[in-house]
Amino acid sequence: MKKSQKDMLPHSEAKVSLLEKYLEAFLAVIANDNFTKAIHAFDLFAGEGIYPNGKAGSSVTIARQFMRLKQARSNAESCPDLYLYFNDRNQAKVDSTLEALEGNGIGEDSGIAISPTCDKYENILPNVVSKVDSLGDEKSFIFIDPYGYKAVKPQDISRLLKGGKSEVLLFQPTQFLFRFTQSGTPKALSDFTAELGQGKKWPENLDIWGYVNHVRYLFSEYVGKNYFVDIFTIQKDPSTVFCLFFFTSHIRGFEKMLDTKWKLNESTGRGWHFEQYGDTLDLFHTPQINPLQNILIESLNEYPLSNGEAYELTLRSGFRPTHCVEVLKSLQNQGKIEVTLSDGKKARKGSFYINYENFKKRPARVLIKIA
Ligand SMILES: C[S@@+](CC[C@H](N)C(=O)[O-])C[C@H]1O[C@@H](n2cnc3c(N)ncnc32)[C@H](O)[C@@H]1O
Repeated sequence: MKKSQKDMLPHSEAKVSLLEKYLEAFLAVIANDNFTKAIHAFDLFAGEGIYPNGKAGSSVTIARQFMRLKQARSNAESCPDLYLYFNDRNQAKVDSTLEALEGNGIGEDSGIAISPTCDKYENILPNVVSKVDSLGDEKSFIFIDPYGYKAVKPQDISRLLKGGKSEVLLFQPTQFLFRFTQSGTPKALSDFTAELGQGKKWPENLDIWGYVNHVRYLFSEYVGKNYFVDIFTIQKDPSTVFCLFFFTSHIRGFEKMLDTKWKLNESTGRGWHFEQYGDTLDLFHTPQINPLQNILIESLNEYPLSNGEAYELTLRSGFRPTHCVEVLKSLQNQGKIEVTLSDGKKARKGSFYINYENFKKRPARVLIKIA
């Protein structure tokens, strides 16, 4: 048995920690939206439950977040109904996850509906797709955490996203993919990259970061403009990088994911360095927002941006609205941009309206252009 199958390794802990922090933020938003009646979480490669070293795996982590939400909403008028479906092809793991859930007080009486299955992902997927397709005023969250790259195909992600009611978190051992594309490509991988690349030529001489960003770009092209894609990297050592891909059709959910990521690594928002794993991720917690400045200037050089467009561009570039405001303030202070209201008058200095509320209700409140 591989060590990773026994104990939870630190890079897996980082992965589950991201899942936990993201769910904490996501569930609070959904539970307060006065619309969502039920939340369905699917853990399709569930694993052990609790590992021998005491660390909680994904299903227990999701269930704990559900319990937390229930407790937080115990005085509120309502809480969405909560459903956890978990699956593993190994019956012993399904049993140990059930046991771990019960050990955490998450059983029949907890108010969370638990549905375990023991089957291959390939067999379960059509049921999950039809379930998420049939959702009404409900949301779903799907966690896909295979050992390798073979089981999951790009089209699976599109199928899961199609109804616009789901968020998908996909763990990929990018490093293995990278090694394979560097040195002869096995069939499953060439199928994966061919499907993802849709006939485009794969760039040569990419380093691992270039590779990860390219896969992110291909995924966003593949799923299309209605969806948002982001990555979170977990660097185990200088040559080993794992990657979590995050997909959603909800810009608000996407913003929450980015918040979580930036909280975990305040200087680049990029991901987790294994050596820095723990509380002290960076020496200086200064966000590196230069890339965003370049992106905004490049875009403004082509055409003016409304506050709604600047908000969306910022998120799609992997940055937070606060970063955008910081960049715009600095450009404004240098006299490089002009900001006008919809009636053509000059906007108040420092007012850019880069946030979700304005994106939704007043996306053209101001226009930002090169001075
Ligand atoms: C990386 S582990 C999952 C870890 C788990 N998500 C956690 O956080 O603890 C992958 C799991 O997928 C299961 N598995 C592997 N191939 C599978 C398949 N084709 N269908 C369903 N489960 C599979 C394995 O038994 C293993 O428990």
